[in-house]
Amino acid sequence: MKNRLALLFITLLTMGNSYCQNKDSKSIGILEPRVEYHENPEGLDVRQPRFSWILKGEGRNRVQSAYQIAVASSKEKLSQDQADIWDSGKVVSNQTNQIVYEGIPLVSGTKYYWKVRVWDEADMVSTWSTPAFWSMGLLKFANWQGLFIGHDVGYNKADKYDSLYLPPARYLRKSFNLNKKIKKATAYTTALGLYELRLNGNKVGEANFLPGWTDYDKRLYYQTFDISNNLREGENVIGAVIADGWYAGYIGYALLVRLDKVREFYGVNPSFMGQIQIEYEDGSMETIASDQTWKSNEGAIREADIIMGETYDARLENTGWDAPNYDDSQWKMPKVYTYPNGKLQAYPGTQVKNTEILKPLAMTEPSPGTYVFDLGKNIAGIAELKVQGPKGTKVQLRFGEILKNDGQIQTENLRKARATDTYILKGEGVETWKPKFTYHGFQYVEVTGFPGKPTLEAITGHVLSSIETDASTFGSSNAMNNTLFKNIKTTQSANFFEIPTDCPQRDERLGWTGDAEIYMRSATYNADVAAFMTKFLVDLDDAQRWYGAYPNFAPFPYSRPNQYAPAWMDAGVIIPYNMYKVYNDTRIVEYMYKGMEKFMQFQEDASTDYLRPGGGNNWGDWLAVNEETSHDFVGASFYGYDAKLMAEMAEALGKTEDAAKYANLFENIKKAFAQKYILDNGRTTEDTQTSYALALYFDLYPNDLAEKGAARLAEKIEKNGFKFSTGFLGTKHVMLALSKYGYDDISYKIFQQTEYPSWGYSVENGSTSIWERWNSYTKDDAENSDLNAKMNSFSHYAFGSVAEWMFQHAVGIDTEDAGYRNIIIKPAISKEMDFINGSYKSINGNISSAWNWKGREVQMNIEIPVNTTAKVFIPTSEISNIKEGNKAISKVSSINILEYNGEETILEIGSGTYSFRVKGVR
Ligand code: BGC
Repeated sequence: MKNRLALLFITLLTMGNSYCQNKDSKSIGILEPRVEYHENPEGLDVRQPRFSWILKGEGRNRVQSAYQIAVASSKEKLSQDQADIWDSGKVVSNQTNQIVYEGIPLVSGTKYYWKVRVWDEADMVSTWSTPAFWSMGLLKFANWQGLFIGHDVGYNKADKYDSLYLPPARYLRKSFNLNKKIKKATAYTTALGLYELRLNGNKVGEANFLPGWTDYDKRLYYQTFDISNNLREGENVIGAVIADGWYAGYIGYALLVRLDKVREFYGVNPSFMGQIQIEYEDGSMETIASDQTWKSNEGAIREADIIMGETYDARLENTGWDAPNYDDSQWKMPKVYTYPNGKLQAYPGTQVKNTEILKPLAMTEPSPGTYVFDLGKNIAGIAELKVQGPKGTKVQLRFGEILKNDGQIQTENLRKARATDTYILKGEGVETWKPKFTYHGFQYVEVTGFPGKPTLEAITGHVLSSIETDASTFGSSNAMNNTLFKNIKTTQSANFFEIPTDCPQRDERLGWTGDAEIYMRSATYNADVAAFMTKFLVDLDDAQRWYGAYPNFAPFPYSRPNQYAPAWMDAGVIIPYNMYKVYNDTRIVEYMYKGMEKFMQFQEDASTDYLRPGGGNNWGDWLAVNEETSHDFVGASFYGYDAKLMAEMAEALGKTEDAAKYANLFENIKKAFAQKYILDNGRTTEDTQTSYALALYFDLYPNDLAEKGAARLAEKIEKNGFKFSTGFLGTKHVMLALSKYGYDDISYKIFQQTEYPSWGYSVENGSTSIWERWNSYTKDDAENSDLNAKMNSFSHYAFGSVAEWMFQHAVGIDTEDAGYRNIIIKPAISKEMDFINGSYKSINGNISSAWNWKGREVQMNIEIPVNTTAKVFIPTSEISNIKEGNKAISKVSSINILEYNGEETILEIGSGTYSFRVKGVR
């Protein structure tokens, strides 16, 4: 057996060699054909959608030399190579993403089928990709036939501040008969509020919280569902359940700070609008649209609010209401509501789905009849209840992130978010229920009113998120750091919920711009956030103030005196820049460009001699410990950074004049900044960790003083026992600045620190998530749960922004150009760690990098995807110290030695896997 394995190994090796020379190499394979970042999307309204795919191929140095895209009007035509919609022909290009459709104009409500093939470095053509499709939504207003309909439930004016007004959900139904054979049926639906679409007794699609949150006065998104398989001949029933949602319900901290309005920011009554379009086999068409021939009613959902929770009285179920053979004679005629001001558009993002199911790990009974279920990690989502008992029994669920010392859940930190779900039993056997229109941030579920003693079966956790955090892996020799990585992902998942929220539990859950810009690049490593962030940028653009500032959060339903702040408003530049850098997406940059220019003008107007003042609206280095960096310093430094990014983005769009203008602006800011804030000895006038980190990372140091500034930062950190004194802004940039200037060892010391304040401190205290504050909780603090209870979230991704450093430096994966075509592999190999490994699934495919001390040698394993090249930085003093496999690198033809400068060796490699053994690593 051993021998056979050895033989197989040798065969594989020789095969590998032949691939090296690309003799007999297999053709390249095509994976994940996508349109507008989505696989087989329904209902696009982008007139010239963009295509992308990922390539796979054995051997080394594999590239795409050309591609051909074929688009057809039917599956059959596509399979017969009849590209009647668009045939790109053979295009000599290595582009695999952001390829713009250039065929005949796309038609409303039409499905298109497409495939792609590619040619490799030897001009060998691949097979066609598996056929994919996309469909166009309703492109013209004239295509829409529905009315916005709802159900009048009256309005009980509760006292605005002292009691809650939580109206019931509304139910809408329409029964219709189909007597001909159906070829295709599509539903186009939306709501002011939230809706769940039902068809013949079942929910349509998997997404929740539809149609998403926008500034409804500017735009309202709709969804497109292919329902060809859900309809049948005879009676069919379409139904919709609608609730207040962001449109009419409670949002954020309005109640807490007693704003004039606490709910109904966009409208008072939820309503539904949509239509089903049926195409029969005989070619005829039929549309069933929302109108007053539908029926409306209330039902079992008595309360439904995103932050307050849901109440369900199973005794009031209208059993079978969304299926045929139901008597709706008692139902009313729906009320028609005004058409909104916002334009109807197809949803561009990624919708909230159930991404994981959690079984409780344990149940406790901290006081008689109060049961607490532990789901094992701090998530965003809902709990499903399974219960059996007498009719009318009221079971209540409350949610907490941590337990108090007495074992009860902490709810003080939820502030005004009631976050309570109630289920009233109908008393008919085993009943299972989960809410539709609310979600909570929690690890623990408290159950009261349960008939008898529940078992673990009574509660199931449903993790809800708009993203899958499956783009990265990370491992290291430090178990704490591995847990930290898991915690970062958990918290990203919990907060990438329709928009990037600050936290999922308390009365906030807003798209805070500062949090989002700090975390943006980290987010891209852990998940494919291209579509999600495209949607958020539209929100941000919609929310831009008339005078040019980007606001504190987006969407921006209400204001408070501080509407914008340095380092928060800069999200309007920093997020588009990262979309460009990571996904090579210039279209979103173009979309944002006018607004960004306006924002730059706003900053210029506010500045004196190129220095943007902090102003009163400034949180500075929010939640910093022990050191404060002046607001003016923060304002001025972010202005410089914006100018630098604007120059790069203008260049990418081919706006050369603008690029020069912003480059010049950057130089002027840099000069003014240095004059005011940087002393001759290289110190900043502030002398805080954050001040060095920002100035160094943003390139605001005069070139001759930067090394000194970096040395001072390193010295300060060392004197502080390798601990932070930073908040939201400083933390990420300290790590990046230290590594930028060669202080990797110090970065690792902070990274592995377990004393307060550090990431390790939260992990050692049992955290499963990233906390808002460095000291959100301590095991030994008897009063732990009341610590800062009013402003203490245990699920805040901002401090998780270390993921950017983990991937760029510890693992060492970055992009030199935009979109990871030219990759940088530059791991920070340090004696402070035994090994690090990680991978990142970029828009071009999987990149991985691992390093491991083997005695005095270092083993490096690298994987580079097809159609990309990488510069590999190896910190050794001699080329002869490096072997690939068992060969000296100078003997390996697929490796190009680019540079050798006595300090490090820079190699250039193409696609494939590489294994280096390196001696003499510094
Ligand atoms: C949020 C933050 C946000 C901050 C602004 C908080 O309430 O939770 O994450 O950035 O306000 O200071």
